[in-house]
Amino acid sequence: MDLIDGNQIATTLIAELKAEVATFTGRKPCLALVRVGEDPASVSYVKKKEKTAAEIGVTSRIILPPVTITQAELFALIDSLNADPAVDGILVQSPLPKHIDEVAVFRRVSPDKDVDGFNTLNLGKVAQEDDTGFVSCTPAGIMELLARSGTDLKGKHVVVLGRSLIVGKPVALLALQKRAGANGTVTICHSGTANLPALTRQADVLIAAIGRADFVTADMVKPGAVVIDVGINRVPDATKKTGYRLTGDVNFAQVSPLCSKITPVPGGVGPMTVAMLMKNTVKAFHLRSAH
Ligand code: GUN
Repeated sequence: MDLIDGNQIATTLIAELKAEVATFTGRKPCLALVRVGEDPASVSYVKKKEKTAAEIGVTSRIILPPVTITQAELFALIDSLNADPAVDGILVQSPLPKHIDEVAVFRRVSPDKDVDGFNTLNLGKVAQEDDTGFVSCTPAGIMELLARSGTDLKGKHVVVLGRSLIVGKPVALLALQKRAGANGTVTICHSGTANLPALTRQADVLIAAIGRADFVTADMVKPGAVVIDVGINRVPDATKKTGYRLTGDVNFAQVSPLCSKITPVPGGVGPMTVAMLMKNTVKAFHLRSAH
């Protein structure tokens, strides 16, 4: 079994981006990070995004509205960022509080600043295989991990566990695209799927993105499969200073001896998501500077 080292691949990407940004003589790319409330996981993700931006030379603007913000106020904030010529990319960290319609917020972000790729237009471009838009960061990171670890999806059965807008649906569309490295035969499984283990056992490449700790067990995986674990679940652990440990959607101890390649948690998909966000921000900067 080989570990797919997301930290190492992300470090390479970040170094490439840093070298590229260093060549920009005038204004640097600017990313607006909006985090509503104090969700602990979101606090840590936004910090990591801010830190990586600084490392690359991307300016970040952190906006922290209170959890009580109304949808209308959040729309007004996004409108002002959309109109601000100094801002290249906008990210509204998910999850949002229950009283806010998250998809409506994603739609509000101007497509040319939508570095998260959740706007209707950018998701549509993934379906149309149009490269001019933004691909959401986690699915893009998964494709990059597969490519850089030498996994070609052509002729392979790719089984995606989970149909979220953030991961499941877009990664399935990317794996399906008729292009080099992709061209997979794709099945999407979800909470309504009957006899799920029978389907996952057919996977040459299994992408687990359901947000349930240790859900994928040894009996669900074909020997020799490539396993991508997108889960970042916090499970209580009294031996840790933080009181929790991070675990994926895959039972690593059971599954890793079976598969040909697997991503660890942490250190697999997570770091790639941040690297792809920076790549999208630099792309937004180029697109906006071109006109
Ligand atoms: N929450 C979990 N993943 C993501 C992501 O890629 N973008 C945003 N905005 N929120 C998330």
